[in-house]
Formats: sequence, C-alpha cells, structure tokens
Amino acid sequence: MGFHIMHSLSQLVRSFTPGNRMPRQILVTSALPYANGQIHLGHLVEYIQTDIWVRFQKLRGHNCRLFCADDTHGTAIMIRARQEGRSEEAMIADMRLDHIRDFSGFDIEFDNYGSTNSDQNRQLCHEIWSALRAANIVIEKPAERLFDPEVGTFLADRFVKGTCPKCGAEDQHGDACEKCLANYAPTELVNPRSTLSGAKPELRSSTQLFVQIEHLHEYLSTWTQTSGALQPEIANFLKNNFLADPLRDWDVSRPAKYFGFEIPDSPGNYWYVWFDAPIGYIASTAEWCQRTGEKLDDWWKNPESEIHHFIGKDITYFHTLFWPAMLHTAGFQLPSKVHIHGFLTVNGEKMSKSKGTFISAATYLKHLDPAYLRYYYASKQGPRVDDLDLNVVDFQTKVDADLVNKFVNIASRCAKLLEGQSLAEVYPDDGGLFRENAEAAERIAELYENCDTNAALREIMLLADKANQYIDAKQPWVVKKDLARLAEVRDICTVGLNLFRQLATYLAPVLPRIAQATGELLGIPILHWNDVHTPVLGQTVRPYSHLMKRVDTKKVHAMIEESKPAESATPESPPVATGGPVSNSFGDTSDELAKEALTAEHCTIDELMKADLRVARVLEAKHVEGADKLLQLTLSLGGDVTRNVFAGIKKAYKPEDLVGQLVICCANLKPRQMKFGLSEGMVLAVGPGGSDVFLLRGDSGAKPGMRVH
Ligand code: 2FM
Ligand code: ZN
Repeated sequence: MGFHIMHSLSQLVRSFTPGNRMPRQILVTSALPYANGQIHLGHLVEYIQTDIWVRFQKLRGHNCRLFCADDTHGTAIMIRARQEGRSEEAMIADMRLDHIRDFSGFDIEFDNYGSTNSDQNRQLCHEIWSALRAANIVIEKPAERLFDPEVGTFLADRFVKGTCPKCGAEDQHGDACEKCLANYAPTELVNPRSTLSGAKPELRSSTQLFVQIEHLHEYLSTWTQTSGALQPEIANFLKNNFLADPLRDWDVSRPAKYFGFEIPDSPGNYWYVWFDAPIGYIASTAEWCQRTGEKLDDWWKNPESEIHHFIGKDITYFHTLFWPAMLHTAGFQLPSKVHIHGFLTVNGEKMSKSKGTFISAATYLKHLDPAYLRYYYASKQGPRVDDLDLNVVDFQTKVDADLVNKFVNIASRCAKLLEGQSLAEVYPDDGGLFRENAEAAERIAELYENCDTNAALREIMLLADKANQYIDAKQPWVVKKDLARLAEVRDICTVGLNLFRQLATYLAPVLPRIAQATGELLGIPILHWNDVHTPVLGQTVRPYSHLMKRVDTKKVHAMIEESKPAESATPESPPVATGGPVSNSFGDTSDELAKEALTAEHCTIDELMKADLRVARVLEAKHVEGADKLLQLTLSLGGDVTRNVFAGIKKAYKPEDLVGQLVICCANLKPRQMKFGLSEGMVLAVGPGGSDVFLLRGDSGAKPGMRVH
C-alpha cells in the first residue's frame, strides 16, 4: 500500500481511530498495605495489576489517578514497635519509606501515597462517624473480647488463631477463614490461641460501639446484585452467604491501649483499624487535592467520577458490605467496581519461608528485572478471582520465550541494522501488517479494561509472531550484504521497527520502561494508545542498547537462597536441587535419572525418525466433560492441517494459557478412539503426571509444521 507521511497521516488516523470518546475521570485504589511488614511478591500481584490498569487508562487519555497509603493502626503495629523498642510513629515512618522504595522499584506509580495516621484521615473519620451517628445506626453494648493474659493486651482479630467455626479448617485467623472465606468474631474460633504468646486467651467484657449495618441490608442487596460493581462470582457469594442472613452488628471500637484514633464521643475507645483504613483511600486523595488544587468532592461525591478498588479476595467483606455502607451513609459515591483477585502461590504452594519462596520485593529487585514479574503476573491474570501461581520454571520460560525471543527480538534485529540511519520517509508496503496491528487496538483495549491481561498479552504475542515471520522472510541481514539493496534494508527495518513500536505501545502498561526506551530509540515518545495508528517515518534510529536480557537462572536461585531463613540457607547449593548430588552450576541433581535410568539400548536414526515429530500451534484448548485429567487440544500443523488430541495435562495447564503456544506433537501416532472422541496424535511432555507435567515447546521462530530432527 505505501503512503507518504505528509499526505496521508490524517487519512490514516481517520481510518484507524475509533470515534472520539469523552475522557473519563477515574479514581483507583490498591489495598493499603499494613505498616508492620515489608512488601513481598504476594502483595505485588495486586499492585502490579492495579498499576497496569491505571497506566492503561492514562495511555488512553483518561483522567485516571491512583491512590494508596500505609495502613498504620492496630495492635500488630503496636506490638512490633514495642518489640523494636521505639514509638509507633518512628516505626511507621521508616516502613512507609521502605514501601515507597519497593513500589517505585517495580514501577508502580501512585499519584499519592499517604498514611492512615494523618490529619486528613482523622478529620474524615470524624466526618463519616458523625454521619453514622446522625443516621442512628451506632449502638453501645457490652462485648466480650479475647485478652492475652501473658502479654496483657486485648487481642486484635489477626492475633488469634484457631479452627474455623464454619468449615473446621485449622490455623485460621480470628476474623475470617482463608479456606471458606467465612467472616466471624474471634470469640467464635474453636481452640483459640494468641499468636503473640501462644497463651489461651481469656474472655473479658467491656462496653463497645457497633454499627448496625443490618439497617442497610436492602440497600446493600440491591447494590451488590444489580450495580455491576462486582464480579458475578462475588455477587453470588455475597447473596448466598452474608446477605442470606441478617447482617451482624459491626464491632467498630477497640479499648485502650490501641494505636489508632480515639473516638471523639467515646473516650478510652479507639476506632478499629478496619474503620479508618478504607477512609485512608479518601484521605490519600485529600492530600493529593491539597497539593494540586483539585477538589475532593469532585472525586468522591461526583456521580460522573468512577471509583475502582483493587483488592484481594480475603478482604471482600470489608469492601463490599461495610465500606459501601459507610460511604452511602456519609454521602460519598459508591465504588463503580471492586476488582477482586485471588492469592499467590509459588510452585503450586503457599509461599514458604523455609523453601525460600516467601520473597520480598527488595530481595527480588536485588537479583531480577521488575519487568519480568510485571509481565509474568499480567500473563497469568484474568478478570476472575482465581489464584495465581508463580511457577519459577514457567516464569523463566515465559519471559524468555515471549519477551526476549519474540518481542525484543524484533527491535534488536532491525534497530542494529539501521543504527544511525534514518527510517524510510514513506511507509513501505508491508502486506497489511501495520494496519492489522492497528486494527487490534480496540480489541486489546477492551481486554485491558476488563482486567483480562492474560488474553491481551496472548493477542499481542500473536501479532509479535507475525512481525517476526515478516522479518524472517525478508532477512534484512542477508539483503544488507548487497550494497545495491540498502534501500530495501531500510524499508524492511522501517516496517519491523514500526510494528515493534505498535507492540511496545500495547505493552506499555505492563512494560513502561521498554515503552520509554522505544520512544528514545526512534526519537518520538509513546504518549497515547492511538500512537499505534501513525507510523514513525524519517527519524534517525538511535544506538540500540539491550531492552531486556534473558532470565539468569543463577540469579533466580540466588534470590530464593537469600529468601530462606538464615539458619537453613545453604548458599552453595541452589534451591531447586534436592536429594542427589549437585553436579553443575544450575544445581541439577541426578534425582530424575535415579527415578528412570537411561536406556542402554541404542536406537538408529531411522528408528528415531519413524516418529514424525512436528511443531504445532494450539488453536483451541478446552475441558472435556467427564474427564478430570484431559484437555482437548486442536493443534495446527500449519495451513488448514489440524490434529485433534486429548492430552492428560488438565491439572497442570489452564486451557486459556495454552492457546497460541507452540508445542511438539507426534503427528503420525496411530489414531486412537477414546471415550471422548478420536485422538489423532500426542503432545510431548515430561514429568510424573498430575500437576507435575511440563510441555515441550517450540522456541520462538519455530513454525507449525516444522519437523523435529
Ligand atoms: O488486608 C490488608 O492488608 C489491609 N491492610 C488492607 C486495607 S485496605 C483498605 F481498606 F484500607
Ligand atoms: Zn472456614
């Protein structure tokens, strides 16, 4: 097609951009981290997800702001400060700096990062409290609380553990069960014990304040079920659990001594940390307003302004019942959306200090590029509440395959060939690739909007495959050897770099540093999502420096080692190595060979080649009704040649993670009639089975149909 920049820019923009949309005003929050601990990889699931969503909205031109703060009150902070022999204020001030350092290390950008121990927060707590009083929904009654006789303090819910009264799960906190998500009073726990001293808590009575949110039952039922603010599974969960019964009075005060705000009309009583924590969202906004001259009511009392909370599933109750009740009573806007995510597991298990998988943000940053984790988390997150697993091997494979071999490879191959020279003045004929990339803009935007980054990244990687195929076919490094064909090299690389820039724009919310570096490489910053509609032409290509390196296995190991408690750390032996002697610097042991010895008998090349092993792309992957181990895969061998294969990988892979991936398939395996249909091949995998199955993949550049030899 080929068009000249001077004549056809406006035409191009018109043909590709969607209709003008009004910029939205969007206030976003992440849950406030407690000020008594460091940020770790579990926290980062949420902060990375939120930051990606906010960067996406900003890139779309919306007036979107992200607010957060440290959650500073409560017994946990008090106890820790006491242990450290200093004031709570000194401790939270230090922790706040650590949190800010870690967030910024992961490129998480807040418009304001406050603290719940601020004047603004105290004032707002007073305001909302007065509204609850005025609405006549605060009552006083005696309450029995658990008291630790050894430490001499009432116990915050989080400091009591015991057996869940609802489902019987052991080792649950005093306020909620991680297994069944039930919410209860600590006094209801079976076999309670203090986590401070291990002592059996005593019941002590005192007069306490309660908010009767049952008065808002109908309002909350309607809001949770009809506003569209909640994921369907959450709305259902609330309907069938909490909202099915009368809502319990919310126990909102704590007796002295408590680190928090004293309740003005109830001396000696303090607001429970969960009262002032969410108000911290508003207080952080207020600090920003003070700095920028914005008006708080324009953000919190304006129906035109959206409010989005990102939280983990363990704090659903607070954000979907108490918090909306407080907001509604005090005349604030309710959240437009509460985006709820699941927990992080590492290698399929809860993070564990002894296994070195309880990794702090700071330790991660000492060893690895934050972009890896941003990309990996984004590639695993969808709009649902599912847990997310950080599988260390998969992490490495995915980052290397997608980012280094596929995405960055486009730029490194083209930019080096054109370094110091200028891009073509007229956009060359690329067979429609630029247009195709640009046309994906709204589709990808919708996926980001719905927090379906998993699907968005899959879509972007398919476009990256096409860009690589173009470069592979054109072979500019070969063309360059012919001095008469240098203009051709310029054209190919102009196409390659423009396709790369489009992908860098789509990935900018996830990989802001690469987007920035891409702007610098081509001399024009990426500022807007719609930049994908306009090719960059005539610019000088700046010297190329590595945009991303492969994940270094040794650094991954070092990070895990460093995360182990001092007494169990064995720096000389890498963490993945168990059992047999370590024989190489990667820590690979002979455990696997011991399980299945090498075959002594030789095979000839002919025998090997009898199996027709091919690279195949997973076109479709779905669950098979009635089969708990199988996934049904439609594999493409290129063109319209496909194979239907049933693979026993259901426990190890989610169908949506497989679509688009390159696997290795035995294409001439004798078809086998199974209960569920005809299986026409087999995908190659290793591992003992169940969730320990690992597919063999085609590296970037391999194409469906290529034979393994
Ligand atoms: O669960 C937590 O980590 C709390 N600190 C979250 C508070 S979110 C909000 F309500 F402040
Ligand atoms: Zn339970």
